[in-house]
Amino acid sequence: MGNPVIADRVRADMQAASWVREMFERGRRLKARLGEENVHDFSLGNPNAAPPAAFFDALKAVAAQSTPQNHRYMNNAGFDESRAAVAAFLAREYRAPMDAAGVLLTCGAAGAMNVALRAILNPQDEVVVVAPYFPEYRFYIEQAGGRMVVAESTPEFQVDARALRAALTPRTRAVIVNSPNNPTGAVYTIEANASLAALLREVDRPARPLYLICDDIYRRLVFDQSWCPAAAPLYHRSIITSSYSKDLSVPGERIGYIALPPVLPERELLFSAMTMLNRTLGFVNAPALQQRIIARCADALGDIGFYRSNRDLLCGALRDMGYELTTPGGAFYAFPRSPIADDVKFIGILEEHNILAVPGIGFGRPGHVRFSFCVARETIERALDGLSAALRAARAGAEPAGARR
Ligand SMILES: Cc1ncc(COP(=O)(O)O)c(C=O)c1O
Repeated sequence: MGNPVIADRVRADMQAASWVREMFERGRRLKARLGEENVHDFSLGNPNAAPPAAFFDALKAVAAQSTPQNHRYMNNAGFDESRAAVAAFLAREYRAPMDAAGVLLTCGAAGAMNVALRAILNPQDEVVVVAPYFPEYRFYIEQAGGRMVVAESTPEFQVDARALRAALTPRTRAVIVNSPNNPTGAVYTIEANASLAALLREVDRPARPLYLICDDIYRRLVFDQSWCPAAAPLYHRSIITSSYSKDLSVPGERIGYIALPPVLPERELLFSAMTMLNRTLGFVNAPALQQRIIARCADALGDIGFYRSNRDLLCGALRDMGYELTTPGGAFYAFPRSPIADDVKFIGILEEHNILAVPGIGFGRPGHVRFSFCVARETIERALDGLSAALRAARAGAEPAGARR
């Protein structure tokens, strides 16, 4: 019998609770027992770099403008000046046309994705995601009435056009891509983006449009190149969803956007639908204060060097210890192979060494673990002995019975 309090579907979602949250809870218990400084927490993608000075300058300037109008409702799409500033930034960032008429300010990238998906999905429409994937996608898609379909990536975690083709059906309404990627840190190559766009163009029909949703929240966090190759400008039915959460280190401020490029054929209609949904899904509008801040620092960027040096330290050390991993080119995640097939068991071994990470199963790719390296450098330094000991313990435990004396 169903629970009389919580809706059946929500209860099912709660039982399938995200591993990221599970690790957060486990971490809370471990920290209460051992003290915060003795737990090495790599479980959350909560940026540790300070927001840039431009953000604080804008915050002060906006706070000093004490007109009552600044705090009222505005057009659900956002203040015109803020939308124009974001559009100008995006035109430079994507090296492609973008205007304020296509920019809708949202409560983070999560708000953006919920609005975008709700606008285009009919019940049981399918949305293809590329594994490993950000686990919240399933909730966003299902809340909008759709069904998530998974396509595997290549061994280097690039989007795999062949696997994607096999996942497309007449019910596919959208494909979500995320580069740089959470949880792998992979940056899609120009070639991978080009074959993705070519495939979508082949399948797209005016009677049944196929959208590419580019979750580009990490796009400015790239370490080995000056510019992250973009899929959105290569395909005419692209929807960009993103936020300032990661590159400005302000995820608690909930400021993000949907960008619909001018080439999108049914842009006006989609924009009206999404603007309405921003209101009716309960977001109403992005926070007014944050919109005003962004109008002043739309192209500011946090300290990428901080993450790059964390990546070099953590990934270099993991490789030297004997972990197998693809070097992440962006975002702030490393996704090495678990030394034993059971990644959940290995997470338990790491925990015995006071290290918190997330099992790959939480991202649709068992046999791996995710370390978020948006942490203080000392957290990585202090964890190194434990990471090495956990690897040895896992390997020793994995030896066939009788092999150990
Ligand atoms: C891949 C990805 N997409 C979307 C989000 C949601 O971002 P926001 O905090 O801006 O809503 C996150 C947050 O971690 C993420 O990693």
